[in-house]
Amino acid sequence: MNIPQSFIQDLLARVDIVDVIERYLPLKKGGANFFACCPFHSEKSASFSVSPFKQFYHCFGCGAHGSAIGFIMQYNGLSYVEAIRELAREAGIPVPDDGRNTRQPDGSLDRLVETMATAAKFYRETLEHAPAAAAYLRKRGLSPEIVTRFGIGFAPDAQTSLQRVFPDYRDKLLNTAGLVIDNDQGRRYDRFRHRIMFPIHDRRGRIIAFGGRILDSGEPKYLNSPETPLFEKGRELYGLSLAQKAIRAAGFALVVEGYMDVVALAQFGMENAVATLGTATTPHHIQTLLRQTSRIVFCFDGDAAGRLAAWRALENAIAALRDDITLAFLFLPPEHDPDTFIREKGLDAMRKAAAHATPLATFLLDALRQRCDTTSAEGRAQLVFEAKPLIARIPETAAVLRLQLAKLIANASRLTQIEAEHALGILPTRRADARTHTAYGSPPPPTRRPPPPPTATLLRLVLQHPALAARLPVNLIPDNIDEGRALIAIIDLVELGEAVTGLGALSERFRGTPHGETLNRIAASLIETEFDPSAVEPLFEDTLIKLQAGVIAREIAELREQARMGTLSPTEQRRLTDLLKEKNKLPGFTGSPDL
Ligand code: UTP
Ligand code: MN
Repeated sequence: MNIPQSFIQDLLARVDIVDVIERYLPLKKGGANFFACCPFHSEKSASFSVSPFKQFYHCFGCGAHGSAIGFIMQYNGLSYVEAIRELAREAGIPVPDDGRNTRQPDGSLDRLVETMATAAKFYRETLEHAPAAAAYLRKRGLSPEIVTRFGIGFAPDAQTSLQRVFPDYRDKLLNTAGLVIDNDQGRRYDRFRHRIMFPIHDRRGRIIAFGGRILDSGEPKYLNSPETPLFEKGRELYGLSLAQKAIRAAGFALVVEGYMDVVALAQFGMENAVATLGTATTPHHIQTLLRQTSRIVFCFDGDAAGRLAAWRALENAIAALRDDITLAFLFLPPEHDPDTFIREKGLDAMRKAAAHATPLATFLLDALRQRCDTTSAEGRAQLVFEAKPLIARIPETAAVLRLQLAKLIANASRLTQIEAEHALGILPTRRADARTHTAYGSPPPPTRRPPPPPTATLLRLVLQHPALAARLPVNLIPDNIDEGRALIAIIDLVELGEAVTGLGALSERFRGTPHGETLNRIAASLIETEFDPSAVEPLFEDTLIKLQAGVIAREIAELREQARMGTLSPTEQRRLTDLLKEKNKLPGFTGSPDL
C-alpha cells in the first residue's frame, strides 16, 4: 500500500489524461477541452469534459471528476492502489516494489486463479449431469439463463471428485485455494460436497472463491471458501462484477445478505444487487461501492436480527460518510428476504421499497430513540451519550450531515443546537491549530461565512497556474476557511521543493484530506470558466491587493474598537496610524474590501 507519493506525481506528470481516457471513451475536441458522453451516468448529450491543461476530467451532468488515476478507479471499479498500478501498466512504467509483491509471488497467484477456474468449470459441468441438483434449482425458481449467467454449478456428494480435473490431487495449490481439506490423518478430501456452488468473482471477473449451499437441508447451510491469497471476505461482494453496470445505470447499489437474494433479484430484473459474504458490511465494502455510485441501500430482514445487522452496517459506514452520498436502510417485512419478496411482490414493488428506504440519519435517530426513554431527562442524556461516539467518527467529508444529525439529536434530547454540539463534542477547535497537519479531521466552524472572494480567487488562479503559489504571502492567507487552508498547504509544498504541476496532480497529492475535497469542489467550477491567460497576471496582482486591504481593514477595525473602549495602548495607537497610512498607499483601494 505504500506507493511513494513521488512516484504518483511522476506518473501523473508522464501520462496525458486525454490519452488515458481515450483508451476507454471516444473523445471529441471542443475548444480547449475534450468531450464525451459520460460513462458514469446515462445521458445522450456529451457533458463529460476532459481538460488536457489541468489534467482533470469533470462531468457537468453527474459531477464525476478527478485525475487520470481517479478515472481509472471509477471506470474500472479499482481501489486507489490498483488504479495506480493499472495506469502505470498502461503507460509501461514499472511500479516500485511496495512490499505487496513479496507476500505472494505473482506467478503463484496466477496459478491459483487458474485452479479456481478449472474447479468452477468442473462444478458447472457436473450440474448438467446431476438431476437432483437441477431439480433443486428449479424448485427454487432459478431459470436456466440465470444459472448460466452466475456460473452456478454443483459439487457432487463424493470425497475426492476434484481428482478428475486435478490429476495431481496432492498438489499443495489445491489446499492454498481452499478447495480441499487435509485432515489430521493426512487424508485429503474435497471441501465442497453435495452443494450448489456459487462462484465468487472479483471486480475483474476472476473467480476467487466459492459459496456452497447444501441441497435441501443440512448443516452448515452455506459453506464458503476460507480466506486465501485470492480471497479476503471483508473486501469482496458477491455479484459485484456482474452488477457494476446496473449499479451505474440505476444510480444506486442494493446490498443484501444472501447469494440466493442476488441471483433472484437479477432474474427478476434488479441487477444492481450485491451480497456480503456471511460477514457484516465492512468499511471496505462501502468504499468499494462508493467508487461506483453515490447511493447505497442496505437491505435487511425486518426482524430483530435484521435491525441488529443494519445497526452494524451503520456503524461501519460512519467512517465512509460524505455529504455527497446517501446511505439508506430498507427493512423488508419479517416473513421475507429479498428472494421471496421479489418473487411474491415483483420488481416494481422492490424498486419502490428501495426508493423509499429509510435514510441513515432517520434510522440512527429512530434506533437511539428506541433504546432511550426520551420522556425522562436521564433518558435524553443517555441518547446524547450514545450518539456521541458515533458523531465523533463522522469525518470532515460529511461535516454538513454531522450538523444535521446534531440538529436531530438536539430536538430529540430537547437541547439547543449549540448545547447539543457542545455535548456531542463537535464545536470547532481554535483556529490557531488549523494550519498544521493535525487539523485534518478536526471539525469545521459550525457556521461558515461565505468564503472571502480574494482567497477563493487566488486558489482558483493557483490551480490553473501552480507557479503563482511561490509568490503568495502565506501570512496573509486566512486559515479559517477551506480555500485558505488549501492554499497554505500548496504554498507549503512549493516551499518544500515539491514539483506542483497542475490540478490533477494536486488533487491526487491531497487525496483523502480536506484539502483534496476543497480542490475538487473548486475544480469542478474551474473547468467551466477558464481565466483568459492575458488576464491572469493583472487579476493575481489585484487580488493580492484586495487580500492585503482586507487584512489591514480588519486590523484597523479592531484597533478602532479598542480606541472606542479606551483600551488602546500607545504602541497600538502607533500601529493604527501606520495602518491607516498603509491603507491609503494601496493602489486602487476603495475602502470597502470584500473581506
Ligand atoms: P440465509 O440463511 O438468510 O440464507 O443466509 P438465504 O440467502 O436466504 O439462503 P436460502 O434462501 O435459504 O438458500 C444469508 C447469507 O448468510 C451466509 C450466506 O452468505 C448466506 O447467503 N450464511 C448463511 C453462511 O455463510 N453460512 C450459513 O450457514 C448460513
Ligand atoms: Mn432465502
